[in-house]
Amino acid sequence: RLLIIDFGSQVTQLIARRLRELNVYCEIHPFNKVDDAFLAAFAPKAVILSGGPASVYTEGAPMPPAGVFTLGVPVLGICYGQQVMMHCLGGHVEGGHGTAEFGRAFVTPTPARLPLLEGWFAEGTEQVWMSHGDHVSKLAPGFEVYGTSPNAPFAVTADPARQFYAVQFHPEVHHTPKGAQLYANFVRMAGFKGDWTMGAYREEAIRKIRDQVGSGRVICALSGGVDSSVAAVLIHEAIGEQLTCVYVDHGLMRLGESEQVVSMFREHYNLPLIHADESDLFLGKLDGVSDPETKRKIIGGLFIEVFEKHAKAIGGADFLAQGTLYPDVIESVSFSGGPSVTIKSHHNVGGLPERMNMKLVEPLRELFKDEVRALGRELGLPQSFIGRHPFPGPGLAIRCPGEITREKLDILRQADAVYIDQIRKHGLYDEIWQAFAAILPMKTVGVMGDTRTYDYAVAIRAVTSVDGMTADTYPFTNEFLGETMTRIINEVKGVNRVFYDLTSKPPGTIELE
Ligand code: XMP
Repeated sequence: RLLIIDFGSQVTQLIARRLRELNVYCEIHPFNKVDDAFLAAFAPKAVILSGGPASVYTEGAPMPPAGVFTLGVPVLGICYGQQVMMHCLGGHVEGGHGTAEFGRAFVTPTPARLPLLEGWFAEGTEQVWMSHGDHVSKLAPGFEVYGTSPNAPFAVTADPARQFYAVQFHPEVHHTPKGAQLYANFVRMAGFKGDWTMGAYREEAIRKIRDQVGSGRVICALSGGVDSSVAAVLIHEAIGEQLTCVYVDHGLMRLGESEQVVSMFREHYNLPLIHADESDLFLGKLDGVSDPETKRKIIGGLFIEVFEKHAKAIGGADFLAQGTLYPDVIESVSFSGGPSVTIKSHHNVGGLPERMNMKLVEPLRELFKDEVRALGRELGLPQSFIGRHPFPGPGLAIRCPGEITREKLDILRQADAVYIDQIRKHGLYDEIWQAFAAILPMKTVGVMGDTRTYDYAVAIRAVTSVDGMTADTYPFTNEFLGETMTRIINEVKGVNRVFYDLTSKPPGTIELE
């Protein structure tokens, strides 16, 4: 296995991701937890020193243990990792002098060849991504230069005899197009066979959950979304009946959704699951409320209350399980307390652990969405479930602008089901990030079978996106839209008009509220 020593770079997790893509098992450990005893116990086959925000020449700068350089295994230093390697091995690092580089740069090879760069320089130079204020000003003894960039004369350095490699740029980011090749070369030289799989990840994750939880009790808010479902199934596999899941049913789910989720997890996975059917409570408190933020706050608050009530009823728990993904971790680190404006109060289970004095179990914390889906497949969750579009915590409440009534929710559920059926029938579901119907807070006049109608208007929306932060409208054909309109009006009683939402994000948001 490979050890990544983390010096606090924003992109350390991307290194791990690149290695998982190469089917190499790795672990990330923060520099202050890695000492020589740890190294001896871990026995890495190779070590990567990550980037980080510090300067090696400042007092108390983060350092790897000296033992890293006497293990006799390949070591790759990236950015701060390069600087720290030079600093520890007798080179010199400086700041200032206008040699900072942020963004795209081009590396030119020197005449000497380095196997780490095999497959590079077909075009003469290679694009890389730089992000550094300091730079190496003197190489450590034994090192040579294998690539230079205008502002980094030591862009690629190595001491091949000792298997030490150090680069100033970030090979893990997309903007270094040949970065994956560099990692592939590194792990091949380190003797990895590339035979690690998602199956092995599952085993490892299970072992870690058992270590963390011991004989403690874990409670999990299962929403039926991919993240919480994968987390719950994985944890259940690790600790069985020590886990209890609570499905808080706020009465704002789609057609047949609650029954499907509950039966799948109870019957197929045999998961201890409490179906907290609290729709009367939620819909009662939402009665007459039309302000979007008030709706969100009512739902978020009640969710915590209900969850807490059920947790108490089973005698409490030591841990709260959450399907937090790596992008959620980065966002909450970089944006918490920042100057950004609240557009919507997102509904999640944040705040619960402190309130209930529980520790967190977050087995998906290092994964990206597509990796969570792969893990879900590995755990046997059906593809139709894993590939589902995102669904917001407050459910249909935010797809029903204005006051929420049971009648409107029923109409919305049926219209949404017809619309999604259309999309699936046309084979478009997987091309779309999110598609849904909304019911508008108005009635309009129509004529059906020579009779005047006065019924609800439904809006249909479909967007493409990579992360939900920005989105484009999905370009349906007119034929598709016409057919969908006809089906919704024919099949759903109470609707006599269909609008198609053309708004991208920005200026719109994906949900209507
Ligand atoms: P917006 O509407 O903000 O949505 O453009 C971006 C993505 O987030 C989802 N969304 C939520 N997810 N709790 C969630 O778990 C929420 O309160 C919430 N509000 C919006 C939305 O469906 C889209 O995928």
